Amino acid sequence: MSRTPGLNTICVHAGTKRDPLTGGVNTPCHGSSSYLHPNPHTGEVAYPRYSNTPSQKAPAEKIAALEGAEAGLVLASGMAAVTTAILAFAQKGDHLIFQSGLYGGTQYFLRDQLERMGISFDFALAEDPGSFAGAIRPNTKLIYVETPNNPLLKITDLARIAELARANGLISIADNTFASPVNQNPLKLGIDMVVHSGTKYLNGHSDLVCGAIAASQKHMQKVHQVMVNLGGSLNMQDCQLLERGLKTLGIRVARQNQNAAQMADFLAKDKRVKKVYYPGLNNHPGHEVAQKQMKGMGGMLSFELAAGPKEAARLMSSLKVTIPAISLGGVESLICLPCQTSHVHLSPEQRQAEGVTDSLLRLSLGIEEIEDLINDMDQALSRALS
Ligand SMILES: Cc1ncc(COP(=O)(O)O)c(C=O)c1O
Repeated sequence: MSRTPGLNTICVHAGTKRDPLTGGVNTPCHGSSSYLHPNPHTGEVAYPRYSNTPSQKAPAEKIAALEGAEAGLVLASGMAAVTTAILAFAQKGDHLIFQSGLYGGTQYFLRDQLERMGISFDFALAEDPGSFAGAIRPNTKLIYVETPNNPLLKITDLARIAELARANGLISIADNTFASPVNQNPLKLGIDMVVHSGTKYLNGHSDLVCGAIAASQKHMQKVHQVMVNLGGSLNMQDCQLLERGLKTLGIRVARQNQNAAQMADFLAKDKRVKKVYYPGLNNHPGHEVAQKQMKGMGGMLSFELAAGPKEAARLMSSLKVTIPAISLGGVESLICLPCQTSHVHLSPEQRQAEGVTDSLLRLSLGIEEIEDLINDMDQALSRALS
């Protein structure tokens, strides 16, 4: 009896291309930038910038299968994915709507680049779908959200955003980096396009920078054209690493979900901690929507100490297992101050308005033993506050 493959079967097998020359079970790394032309093997012009070599197609097809998309593309960074997806659907004179509190790099792009291209935009509130409706103008083309967002783990109701976009003929894009396709599939909720920083959970080993986009064939044709023009394809060696990372995505994220839930519980009960941001906690404002649209609550959380920025910095340097470092989603637990890292390009006023305070700590749970991580956090809290 045939059945639809489950998550870990997709992770291991979807898109992977056996080596026809040797019978090797992994997709070969095609190390050529030059291919025969005319090409008797593929019948098309093969060139890595077009992202049409088997090494590039394999992880792209795996990600598309994981997101339930007709097609996917891998790119040179998460920002290449974000910018290519947006620019595929926006031109001079258009108006776009973005959720406020996006990853700082995405906001930097909007403020630094979009306006000078003659594209205007407004921000709407993650927790208030009505504010997206209120921002729509006659020339609005696109709605862009990020849920859970970086770093406050705000939750946006994806089904409502998708419905609003459909009703108004707009393209909807969701940055699914924090959830990963293991925990959330925006396309299945009606969103048109998903973008990822593949640097994070998709690869999962903190050893490469990449991005991904997944959507319908029709939308991906436009995205592909813009990617070819902008030149943000992913090199073959990184495609191979990414494909290897994707094979364990399901089991890594399941473990990270568990670790984050237990760490959130520990921190929420600790008097030395003022506030914990984690969608799995009952008191998180997006908890109900998260339960509706996410299969797991993710491996990310943020928290504020009862003390200030000095103590937060001391906490980071007192940790012995968790590493004070930028980025997230790897097998090792990482902690950072978003005001100095992911949101450093925002002005202090902009950070203030979004709730990214100078003492907010963002924690990415790895796959270590949770007892070791909690024990480490406990001793670092004591040192930081002594
Ligand atoms: C939510 C989110 N989107 C996009 C990006 C950009 O990804 P990259 O650094 O791979 O370009 C990041 C990076 O931290 C992110 O957190």
